[in-house]
Amino acid sequence: MEPVTVEVREGESLLLALSREGLFVEAPCGGLGRCGSCAVRIAAGPLLPDSRHLACRVDRPGTYTLLRAHPIDLPPVRLPRRRKTGRDLGLAVDLGTTTVAAALVDPATGRILAAARRTNPQRAYGAEVLSRLRAGLSPDHRPRLAELARHAVTSLLASLLDRDRASPADLRAARLCGNAAMTLLFLGRDPERAATPPYEPGLAAEGAIPVPPDGLPLPPSAEARFLPALGGHVGSDTTAAVLAAGLTDGPRPALLLDLGTNGEVALAAKGALLVASAAAGPAFEGGGLTHGSPAGPGAVEAVSRRGPDFTFRTGGATPPRTWCGSGALDLLAVLLDGGFLDPSGRLRSLPPLPVPFDQGDVRELQLAKGALAAAVSILLAEAGLSGRDLARVVLTGAFGARASPASARRIGLLPPGPPAEALDAGALRGAALALRPDGLDRAAAIAAAARHVPLGDRPDFENVFAEHMALRELPA
Ligand code: FES
Repeated sequence: MEPVTVEVREGESLLLALSREGLFVEAPCGGLGRCGSCAVRIAAGPLLPDSRHLACRVDRPGTYTLLRAHPIDLPPVRLPRRRKTGRDLGLAVDLGTTTVAAALVDPATGRILAAARRTNPQRAYGAEVLSRLRAGLSPDHRPRLAELARHAVTSLLASLLDRDRASPADLRAARLCGNAAMTLLFLGRDPERAATPPYEPGLAAEGAIPVPPDGLPLPPSAEARFLPALGGHVGSDTTAAVLAAGLTDGPRPALLLDLGTNGEVALAAKGALLVASAAAGPAFEGGGLTHGSPAGPGAVEAVSRRGPDFTFRTGGATPPRTWCGSGALDLLAVLLDGGFLDPSGRLRSLPPLPVPFDQGDVRELQLAKGALAAAVSILLAEAGLSGRDLARVVLTGAFGARASPASARRIGLLPPGPPAEALDAGALRGAALALRPDGLDRAAAIAAAARHVPLGDRPDFENVFAEHMALRELPA
């Protein structure tokens, strides 16, 4: 492997310095020193030569030469040069923390014609939102973070246009959505207000934010906007998911959980839309688990148990290597049922498993579950409702749409109530619907009805959170 030389500046880690230079080291825990993935061999520099270190833990300024870092692959993207085909097309984008998804859309109907997704290349700055925000606070890293997100969208657009034999000149409009952090970083803005108390980025007051002219290579006639955000960290991806689920139009009270790397909760009841974001962390996307990953080949997606026999279903029909969120959720449920796990979260023992799993993993999942269930419980209480009153429950998001509702109820993540509906790619579908002639008005109506409930401000939050750490079904 080629040695690389990098300068660590005062106040930054070697991991951040590598990202600044466009060099990639896996950092799923976001630089907390927990995952061990960012280990590098230092060949020369201020630390002992020829020693191994976690790049996120090295912060002594100086010039380092090291032996493990790959350039972040940003090959130049060219949109196809094709004449206008005479069709009208729209571009819908869901800027997820883990995955960026895009679709070509018929703007008359909001129907998705072709869709594609790819990993968010900002992962070089950490798997979760907080580490990206921390990096975005530095003017050294901010342009790079914007470039990475914009490059991801542009490369998806290029492949979609190619696949559909369409021309960039066919594009009439683009609608983007994302959580508050992803939106700020795409726009290249200082994310300080999102990263520091009271965590109010102020995006909701701006309505449907236009994408700057240098943001995407679209024809000047194509109008590109983010959907309106809903308040705090509840971004335009939740607006889109609410739109796609018809949450404010169908039977109510209706609860939507958008579960991915972050967790957002929306409750449509009594003419209002209460929304909250839960600091759930990336455990349900596999982040922070010792052997976790997003869903994909080799990730255990589902676990079931019949008597002493366990069955593990893996994505891509490949041998199990990691746990993704839905598999880890099922595992908690079957471990509880089999008496291997206490409702308090203490592991008594483990049956033979194809992928290691330990007490620390249980705690990570418990923290995520506690934060989400507390958010649901607080919104229901704000509306004067209980789970039994709900007419609809919708699960969406990378983890939400795959999660087994039965397992979610078993561990107390979902309240008792009607059967949960899975909405695949809710945010992308909502961005597609927002391309329809009435789309932005409908998104604006959702934003106007929304009331953000900031959970961190509530004196009862810690207690409700602690109560919901228990892994047991919620009372009917
Ligand atoms: S241990 Fe360094 S990023 Fe996880």
